[in-house]
Amino acid sequence: MTSAARRARPESLPRASDRGTCGDVLQHAFSADTLRDRVAIVTGASQGIGRAIALELAKVGADVVACSRRQSGVDAVAGEVRALGRCALGVACDVGDAAQVDEVVARTHAEFGRIDLLVNNAGYRIRARLEDLPRDEWDAMLRTNLTGVFLFSQAVGRVMIRQHSGKIVNVTSVAGRSGSRGMAAYAAAKAGVTALTQSLGAEWAKYGITVNAVAPGPTETEGVLEVWKTPAMIAQASREVPLQRLARPEEIAWAVIFVASDAADFMTGETLYVSGGPRVANRED
Ligand SMILES: NC(=O)c1ccc[n+]([C@@H]2O[C@H](COP(=O)([O-])OP(=O)(O)OC[C@H]3O[C@@H](n4cnc5c(N)ncnc54)[C@H](OP(=O)(O)O)[C@@H]3O)[C@@H](O)[C@H]2O)c1
Repeated sequence: MTSAARRARPESLPRASDRGTCGDVLQHAFSADTLRDRVAIVTGASQGIGRAIALELAKVGADVVACSRRQSGVDAVAGEVRALGRCALGVACDVGDAAQVDEVVARTHAEFGRIDLLVNNAGYRIRARLEDLPRDEWDAMLRTNLTGVFLFSQAVGRVMIRQHSGKIVNVTSVAGRSGSRGMAAYAAAKAGVTALTQSLGAEWAKYGITVNAVAPGPTETEGVLEVWKTPAMIAQASREVPLQRLARPEEIAWAVIFVASDAADFMTGETLYVSGGPRVANRED
């Protein structure tokens, strides 16, 4: 076959100009069989990106254990997952508490008999100048955003090592690559998650486990809208993004599904950026 023939686009594939909405693209990209009957734990699932991940996972066939600290929040999301025809549990859990993490993992295993996917998504951000940041807020930041990833990965990893299969996806941030003025503790915690992802990806490859990260750029979630409270603030934040808008939570969830799918079997220790474009130093406008 000539290289031109190899590059030719099969007629059945949609052209970019034919695609219409993002929903249409999703239909082309994933199906209800993409993660059929896989058992997934999603942390921070009560709202925002975590909720979108839980629901989009259900649409591609996964059963979902949704956890965050608020039982009412995860119960609501578990109900939405069931309405999509999949099994679900809502379990209250603080990701920084090892006993609660172990309980989620034990309940998931008891209920479903296996764990195929862990999405470490729980996290929060604080704005503070480092010179003013109290020690306890630094500790709390690392506890949720980094130690929580360690605790869940360790507890689920032990199950996956026994299974000799599994996928872990960590939700990091562009801040973990570039740093962030005013959010140094957050950026440091996310950079730690990136390093943990690379290390575990290499370490657990021999067990058939992949460990990757998805790094969102600014995404319109409840957590972000608490900080950017006005349309003017959102417009300002959007102007900073090369694609000139915030992400929708589902757009982050689709990247998680790709990394969690068989299509990404040869990918581990990597970070997939879904950022609206990298920030560059020089602007033309
Ligand atoms: N939105 C963005 O622009 C953006 C950009 C880059 C990266 N990210 C990352 O994406 C992830 C989700 O962000 P988001 O914007 O969707 O956040 P969000 O709207 O603030 O939601 C955070 C979720 O995490 C849960 N959570 C917080 N602390 C927890 C803890 N200690 N234990 C268990 N669950 C906890 C919250 O539920 P409870 O209150 O019930 O615990 C909630 O479900 C975070 O890791 C964030 O750093 C977000």
